[in-house]
Amino acid sequence: MKKLFVNIIVGLFFVVVAAPSFAEKQSHDSDHEVAPPARSGEEVSTQCVACHAADGNSPTPNFPRLAGQYADYMFHSLKSYKNGDRKNAIMAGIVAALSEKEMKNVSEYYARQTGLSVVNIDDEGKH
Ligand code: HEC
Repeated sequence: MKKLFVNIIVGLFFVVVAAPSFAEKQSHDSDHEVAPPARSGEEVSTQCVACHAADGNSPTPNFPRLAGQYADYMFHSLKSYKNGDRKNAIMAGIVAALSEKEMKNVSEYYARQTGLSVVNIDDEGKH
């Protein structure tokens, strides 16, 4: 009789304690099927340093400078490489692995770096 009582207690334990935690685990697992979170601009930029340099000031004219460029312009360029409007084999390969949010983040990251700056027409000729 005592053994039966113990079995009931143990059985109840599984229903009350184990079952909800199993259900919770399942819902956590399905969360992982959602797309991974977008990487920050700085994280994405590690894929760009080889050509555009760590701070976006590429030392060679073959690779455009990104530092200080308008974020909107860069984002538009990246989207154009992705959808084929702008054709470049290298950049097409790069953007293929980036989500739209990551292209935006990396554009904002390079826009914040010091580099390109707008020339003030009034200052032209005074140098
Ligand atoms: C293997 C070299 C290489 C890598 C790596 C690379 N790029 Fe480029 N990138 C280029 C070249 C070459 C161009 C010029 C292509 C053209 O003429 O359209 C370019 C052009 C661009 C442009 C257009 C610039 C402009 O002024 O029109 C942007 C924006 C850009 N890259 C961003 C990135 C970002 C962001 C990454 C990293 C996620 C990256 N690139 C990685 C070689 C590279």
